[in-house]
Amino acid sequence: MTLLLGFIVYAVALSVALARAGFWSQAAPSSGAPRHPPARVLIVGATGGTGRQLVARALERGYAVTAFVRDPARLGISHPQLTVVQGDVLDVGSVEKAMRGQEAVLSALGHKRFFYPTRILSQGTRNILSAMETHGVSRFVCETSMGIGDSAGRMGLYYTFFVLPVILPFYFWDKTRQERVIAASSVEWVLVRPGALTNGDSRGGSRHGRGVGSFLWTVRISRADVAEFMLDQVESDTYLRSAPGVCW
Ligand SMILES: NC(=O)c1ccc[n+]([C@@H]2O[C@H](COP(=O)([O-])OP(=O)(O)OC[C@H]3O[C@@H](n4cnc5c(N)ncnc54)[C@H](OP(=O)(O)O)[C@@H]3O)[C@@H](O)[C@H]2O)c1
Repeated sequence: MTLLLGFIVYAVALSVALARAGFWSQAAPSSGAPRHPPARVLIVGATGGTGRQLVARALERGYAVTAFVRDPARLGISHPQLTVVQGDVLDVGSVEKAMRGQEAVLSALGHKRFFYPTRILSQGTRNILSAMETHGVSRFVCETSMGIGDSAGRMGLYYTFFVLPVILPFYFWDKTRQERVIAASSVEWVLVRPGALTNGDSRGGSRHGRGVGSFLWTVRISRADVAEFMLDQVESDTYLRSAPGVCW
C-alpha cells in the first residue's frame, strides 16, 4: 500500500514537473490566413514512422523534399523530387549541409534510448535551429508530444500513471528541454503535440488546438494524419509560435 501510494505521488509529481517545464501557449490561434507555401522542405527523422509519412505526403503536395537520414537504405522511397542527405542530428556539420537551400524544416525526430538520461532531442534540435539561423531558413514545424507543458495529463490515465513514469520519464524530460530550446529561438516555429501514434490510414480529419486530449482516456492519431497536420503548419500561420495538441 505504501509502495503504491509512493508511486502515485511520483507519477503526479512527474506530470506536474512536465507541465511546468514544457511550453505553455500564450497566443490564441490566428484566423489562419494561408501563407505562401515554400517550394523546398527538409525532413528530419525521415526514416521513422511519422517521417516516412511526411516525405510521401510532402512529395504528393508538390514540394521538393530533402530527407535527412542516418541510413538511406531505411527510407524506401524514391521520387524525382526527393534528395537524400545522410547525416546525424548530433553532427552539426551534416545538419548544415542538408540545410543549404531549404525554405522550411519538419522534424519527426525520435529514438528508443528510453531508460537513461539523453539529450538527443534537445541537442539535435539545437543543431537544427543553429543551421536554420545560419542559412536563413525561417519555418520550423517540430513533432513533440501531448503530456507536457499545457497539455500535461492529456494523454489519459494510462500514460500519466504508467507509460510516462515507468517507461519514458527521461525521454519526456528531454522533450521539455527540446520545446524550450525551440520556443527561445528566433525562427517561426510550431510545436505539434500528437496523442498516441498509430500506423493506421489517414482519416482525413483531426481535432487540434490547446485543449484537445483527455485526462482519462488514451487519445490517438495516425502518423499519416499527424504528417498532414504538420504540413498544414508549413502552409499557414494559424498556430505560429504555439503548441497545438492533435488527435482524433
Ligand atoms: N509513439 C507514440 O505514441 C508517440 C506519441 C506522441 C509523440 N511521439 C513522438 O513523435 C515523434 C516521432 O515518433 P515516430 O514513432 O513516428 O518516430 P520513430 O519511428 O521513432 O523515428 C524517429 C526518427 O528519428 C531518427 N533519428 C533518431 N536519432 C537520430 C539522429 N541522431 N540523427 C538523425 N536522425 C535520428 C530515426 O532515424 P533511424 O531510422 O536511423 O533510427 C528515425 O528516422 C517522436 O519524437 C515521438 O516521441 C510519439
